[in-house]
Amino acid sequence: MASERTLILFKPDAVQRRLCGELLGRIENKGLKIVGLKMLQVTAELSKKHYAEHVSKPFYPLLESFITAGPVVALAVEGPEAVSVMRTMLGPTNGRQAAPGTIRGDFGVSRQMNLVHGSDSVEAAQKELAIYFKPDELIEYQPTLGQWVCAADELS
Ligand code: RTP
Ligand code: MG
Repeated sequence: MASERTLILFKPDAVQRRLCGELLGRIENKGLKIVGLKMLQVTAELSKKHYAEHVSKPFYPLLESFITAGPVVALAVEGPEAVSVMRTMLGPTNGRQAAPGTIRGDFGVSRQMNLVHGSDSVEAAQKELAIYFKPDELIEYQPTLGQWVCAADELS
C-alpha cells in the first residue's frame, strides 16, 4: 500500500458556504495528513491548466466561471492510497446521486457546485500538485499520532 499525495480544492461554493472547517475536519478525522494548504483565487488561465481535459467540452465555460467566481482553498493531502480514499470520501460528481456519508452527498444537490475537487489518479495528482504548489510549499513532518493511524507495513 503506497503512501500517496493528492490535490484537494475546497471550491468557491464551499468557501462561500463557510464549510472549510467542516471539510478540513473530515480529512483530519479520516487520519490523512495535510502537507500543504493555501487560499487562492483561480484565474481563467489556471482553470484551463487544471481542467485541461475538459476545456473543449460544452460545460467548460460554466465550469470556468464557477471555479473563478471566488477564492478556493488548496490542500495537499497525504496518506495510504490518499487519491482513491479522498475520491471515495467525495462521492460521485453529482451531489444528487452521491450517497449520504460522502461530502457531496451530505452537503450538496448540484452537479457543478459539488464543493470539493480531488485528483482522480496518482498521475493527475502529481500534475495538479505541481500546478498549485511550489515544492517548498509542501511540508515534510512526522505526525506524532501516525503510529495510531496506520500499521508500519501499510505505508511504503
Ligand atoms: P473534480 O474534477 O472537480 O474533482 O470533479 P469530478 O472528477 O467528479 O468531475 P469531472 O468530470 O472531472 O468534472 C469537473 C467538474 O466540472 C463540473 N461539471 N459540470 N455540466 C456538466 O455536465 C458538468 N460535468 C462536470 C463539476 O463541477 C465537476 O466537478
Ligand atoms: Mg475530475
